[in-house]
Amino acid sequence: MAAIRWVVLAYIVVIGCATIARGDEQPLSRIAIERATVAAVDSASVKAQPTVLGLKGQSSDWVVVEFSHPKPSNDDWIGVFSPSRFSSEICQPEYYGDLPPYLCTSPIKFQYANFNNADYNRSGKGLLRLQLINQREDFSFALFSGGLSAPKLIAISNKVSFQNPKAPVYPRLAQGKSWNEMTVTWTSGYSIKEAIPFVEWGHKGGNQMLSPAGTLTFSRNSMCGSPARTVGWRDPGYIHTSFLKELWPDSLYTYRLGHRLLDGTHIWSKSYSFRASPYPGQDSVQRVVIFGDMGKAEIDGSDEYGNYEQASLYTTNQLIKELDSIDMVIHIGDLSYANGYLSQWDQFTQQIEPIASTVPYMIGSGNHERDWPGSGSFYGHNDSGGECGVPTQTMFYVPAENRAKLWYSTDYGMFRFCIADTEQDWRPGTEQYKFIEQCLSSVDRSKQPWLIFLAHRVLGYSSASWYEIMMGSYGEPMGRDGLEELWQKYKVDLAVFGHIHSYERTCPIYQNRCVQDGSNLYTGQFNATTHVIVGGGGAMLSPFRATVPYWSFFRDYDFGFSKLTALNHSTLLFEYKKSRDGKVYDHFTISRDYRDIMACSIDNCPRTTLAV
Ligand SMILES: *[C@@H]1O[C@H](CO)[C@@H](O)[C@H](O)[C@H]1NC(C)=O
Ligand SMILES: *[C@@H]1O[C@H](CO)[C@@H](O)[C@H](O)[C@H]1NC(C)=O
Ligand SMILES: *[C@@H]1O[C@H](CO)[C@@H](O)[C@H](O)[C@H]1NC(C)=O
Ligand SMILES: *[C@@H]1O[C@H](CO)[C@@H](O)[C@H](O)[C@H]1NC(C)=O
Ligand SMILES: [Fe+2]
Repeated sequence: MAAIRWVVLAYIVVIGCATIARGDEQPLSRIAIERATVAAVDSASVKAQPTVLGLKGQSSDWVVVEFSHPKPSNDDWIGVFSPSRFSSEICQPEYYGDLPPYLCTSPIKFQYANFNNADYNRSGKGLLRLQLINQREDFSFALFSGGLSAPKLIAISNKVSFQNPKAPVYPRLAQGKSWNEMTVTWTSGYSIKEAIPFVEWGHKGGNQMLSPAGTLTFSRNSMCGSPARTVGWRDPGYIHTSFLKELWPDSLYTYRLGHRLLDGTHIWSKSYSFRASPYPGQDSVQRVVIFGDMGKAEIDGSDEYGNYEQASLYTTNQLIKELDSIDMVIHIGDLSYANGYLSQWDQFTQQIEPIASTVPYMIGSGNHERDWPGSGSFYGHNDSGGECGVPTQTMFYVPAENRAKLWYSTDYGMFRFCIADTEQDWRPGTEQYKFIEQCLSSVDRSKQPWLIFLAHRVLGYSSASWYEIMMGSYGEPMGRDGLEELWQKYKVDLAVFGHIHSYERTCPIYQNRCVQDGSNLYTGQFNATTHVIVGGGGAMLSPFRATVPYWSFFRDYDFGFSKLTALNHSTLLFEYKKSRDGKVYDHFTISRDYRDIMACSIDNCPRTTLAV
C-alpha cells in the first residue's frame, strides 16, 4: 500500500516537472549549435528566393527555400541565420574551453527538412515556405544533418535581404507618466549618428507635427548569462521612444515613424492611428484586456514542437479581430519566452504590432523576462536565459520611475491599475511595498471607482497543481503576506495574475475565507477582493489540482484572456473569453454606488474618532 502510494506520488512529481519544463522551453534551445561540425557535401544545395524582400515596403515577407541532399534523413533540418555570415561570428571566450566551437550563434528559426515534404527521406529533395520579418540584417539558410543535438552543416544558401533592412518597424504604444501622454517605441537599424529619429503625428486629418525620439540599445555585456550572452545573442538594433504630449481626451490621432538621414532625406514607416486616453474619472465606456504568458509562434509552422505555442496566435488574432472594442491591453508578464534568444524579441514585437501600434500595450515583468541567479531577481532561477530583464526594459516603455524596477501605476478613465513586479521583492518594508500602498491609497474612488491590482506570479489564490507540487501551497509562498491587508484596506476590486497557464476566478476572498459566495452579480458594498488568474495567453497549459478548493468559483483549462469593461461609475463588467473563438465563458458584473465603496466591511475602514 505504502509502496503504491509512493509510486503514484513519484509519478505525479515527474509529470509535473516534465510539464513545467516543456511549457517554458525555447524551441531554439534544443539546437546544440556549439557542437555543430562541417560536413559540406558538394552535390547538396540550398536555394532561397526571392533574394529581395519587402518590395512593397512591408516588414514581413515569404521566401521559398529549395534544397537537395544525396543522403537525406528524417532528422535533417534547415536553420535560418541572420546575419547571413553566421560562421564568421566570433566566439566569446567565456563560452568554450580549449578550442572555440565552429559555430557560436543560434539560428533565428528552424524547420525540419521533411516538413510538408513527406517524400524527402527518399528523394532528398524538399521545399519550405518560410516567413521572414525585417530584423535589420540579411538572411541565409543552412541545411544540417545529424538532428538538433549533433548538427552537421551540409550546405548554405544564397543570401536574401529586405529592401531596407534598417527601416523603422514594430511600433508599440504605451501610456506615458501622465494621462494625456502617449509614448511610441519602435525598432530600427539607424544609429543616432546616421539619422535623427522622430514621430510625425497629429489629429486625424489635422496639422501634423514632429516630436523627437530618444534612442537606446544594449550590448552583449549587459546580458547576465548564457544563452543571451553566447549563442542566443543578437544585436537588438536601436530602440526609439517618442513622447506625444498634451493629447486631447478620446481624440483620434495618426502618426508615422521617421528618420532624417544626414543627407536630409527621410525614411518613413507606414501610417498608424490611435485614440488618446480618457481623462481620469471621465464617464464613458472603457475596455481593457488583460492576460499573461502569451509567447510567440511562427505562422509557417517553424520552431514548433509540442504544438502549444500556436495558441499565442489564437490570442493575437482574436484581439486583432475585436480591436475596435479594445482601448488598452495589459500583458502581465512572460511576454515572448525568448529565454535568451534575442532574435525572438523582434519576432514578438512583429506578432503584436497590429495591436500594440493601435492601443497602449502595457507590460508586466515575469520570470521569463527577469529571473537570473545573482542578478537581484527575487527568484534565483534561470528562466530569463540570461536576459535578466534588459531586453524587456529596453524594448518596452513603462511609466515607471525606474524601468529596471518594473512596477508602476496607470490610469485609464474610471480605472486605476497598480502593476507590481513579482520578480523583485514586494514584501512589507520594501520599496515596492511602499509603491503598492501609495498606488492603492492615492486614488479618488468617486472618480475612479475601479481599482485593479496586477502581477505576474500568483500573489493571491490559485488551485494550480504547479503550486501544489512545487510548493505545497495555493499561490506564491509569502505572496499574500502584507498584501492581503492592503487589498482589503483599500478595497481592491480585482487582483489579476498570470504565471499559471489557465483561467480561474475565486469568490470575494480575504484571509482564506469567502467573505461572500461567488456570483455573477455583485451589488452593494465592497466585501473582499476577487482574484483572477488569466495566464492562458498561449504558452502550454497548466493543469489544476484534482480537488477544487471551496474558494475556487470558476476554472477553465484552456487558452483565453479577460476583458474589463467600465460601463460607467456604477457598473463594471468582467468577461473571460477563450482565444479560440472569442466567446465569453465566464463573466460577472459589479454594480455599486460611491457610498457603497465608502461603507465598512472587515478590516477596511479607518478608525473613527470617539469625540462627540
Ligand atoms: C521515411 O519517412 C517515413 C515517414 O516519416 C518513414 O515511414 C520511412 O520509414 C522513412 N524511410 C526511410 C528510408 O528512412
Ligand atoms: C537552467 O536550469 C536548469 C535546471 O537547473 C537546467 O537544466 C538548464 O540547463 C538551465 N538552463 C540554462 C540556460 O542555463
Ligand atoms: C457584501 O455583503 C453584504 C452583506 O452580506 C451584501 O448585502 C452585499 O450585497 C455584498 N456586496 C456585494 C458587492 O455583493
Ligand atoms: C450604468 O450602466 C448600466 C449598464 O448599462 C446601466 O444599467 C445603469 O443605469 C448605468 N448607470 C448610470 C448611473 O448611468
Ligand atoms: Fe511565469
